[in-house]
Amino acid sequence: MLPNDSRDSSLLRTLHIRYLKRYLDILPGELSSHDSTRLTIAFFTISGLDILNALDDLDEAKKQNIIEWIYRLQILPNDSEREECRKASGFQGSSTLIFPDTELRCSKEYACSHIAMTYTGLATLIILGDNLSRVDRGAIIEGLKALQQRDGSFCATLAGSESDMRFVYCAACICYMLRDWSGMNIEKTLEFIVNSMSYDYGIGQGPEQESHGGTTFCAVASLALMGRLETTFSLKQLAGLRKWALSRQESGFQGRPNKPVDTCYSFWVGATLQLLEAFHMVDFKSNKEYILSTQDRILGGFSKWPDTTPDPMHTCLGLGGLSLMKEKDLLPVHPGLNITLRAHKHLEEIQRLWDDK
Ligand code: FPP
Repeated sequence: MLPNDSRDSSLLRTLHIRYLKRYLDILPGELSSHDSTRLTIAFFTISGLDILNALDDLDEAKKQNIIEWIYRLQILPNDSEREECRKASGFQGSSTLIFPDTELRCSKEYACSHIAMTYTGLATLIILGDNLSRVDRGAIIEGLKALQQRDGSFCATLAGSESDMRFVYCAACICYMLRDWSGMNIEKTLEFIVNSMSYDYGIGQGPEQESHGGTTFCAVASLALMGRLETTFSLKQLAGLRKWALSRQESGFQGRPNKPVDTCYSFWVGATLQLLEAFHMVDFKSNKEYILSTQDRILGGFSKWPDTTPDPMHTCLGLGGLSLMKEKDLLPVHPGLNITLRAHKHLEEIQRLWDDK
C-alpha cells in the first residue's frame, strides 16, 4: 500500500468538516478519559471549523446550545459562601464536574475553575460570536491573581496543580481577551519566562527544563500578547531563539531535537517563527507535504503521524499550520492567540463596546 504522503496532495476540506462536526454531537469512546477537559476538545473542534471557514455549517440553534453549555460551566463568585472559593471563578471543563445541588451544598463547596478551561471557554465563546456579556470578568481576573506563584509562573487551579509555562500562556490569553492585566504581576511573569530560556536558546516548562516547541510557543506568544516580545530578550537571545525554532524543521516540525516530527508543531513552532518574524525561512513545501500526509482519508481529521488515529487537537493545529502558510480556502490565524483573525476582529469589537460603557 502506498504511504499516505504520496496519495494526499490536497486538503480534504469536506471530510475535515464532517469529522469535526461529529465531535460536537458525541465524544467518541476513545476520548472518554478526556471528559473532564471536554471544553478544550470543543475549542479545538470549533476553532478547526472556523479555520476551515465552515462555522456557517452549524445552525444558529446549535451554536446557541454550545454557548449555553459553556456558560453553565462558569463558576461565579457567589456560587460559594467560603472566601477562598470565591477565587475559584472561571470555567470548569465538563458538566460531569458539576455536583448536583443537595442540601449539603457540596456543589458549591467543591466548584473550582481550571485556567486552561477558562482560556478555551472564553476563546470558544468569542469564535461562536458571543459578546461575553455573561462573563464575570472581574471575578476571573481576581481568580488569576490567586494562581500566580512567587516565581512568576501560574498554577492551573486553586485545588492545586503543577505550575509551568503552559499556564502562563493560558493566563496571558485570559488577560488579553478580557483586556485586563491586573490579575498578573507582569514583571514576575517576565522574570519566569527569561529564567526558562535554556542554554540552547529554546524555552522549557520552567527554569532548568528541556527546551520544547510547545513551551517555547507558550513563552513567545505570552510575550507577544503582553506587547513585550521585542523588549524582554536581548538581540542575541532572539537570534538564538529563531535559530532553535528553525532547527526544529525536518520535513514538518519536531518538538525537540532527536524526536519525530508531529503535525501539532507545524503550528506551535510555526506560530513562534511567525511571531519572531522568521517564518519566511521555513521550507513551506516539505512542511505542507508532511501536514497533508497526516490527513485521514476516510474519517477526515489529522493525526500527529501518517496512518495513525486523528484527533481534534491535531486537526485544528494541522489546519493552523497550513493557514500560517496561507493555504487557500483557510482563514488566516492570529499566531499569538490561536484563533482566526475573523474571531480576533470580533473580540476587538466586543472590547470597543466595553470602552463605550
Ligand atoms: C508532547 O510531549 C507534548 C505535547 C503534545 C504538548 C506540547 C504543547 C504545549 C506544551 C503547548 C500547550 C498549549 C497550551 C494552549 C496550554 P511528548 O514528550 O509526548 O512529545 P515530543 O516527543 O514531541 O516532545
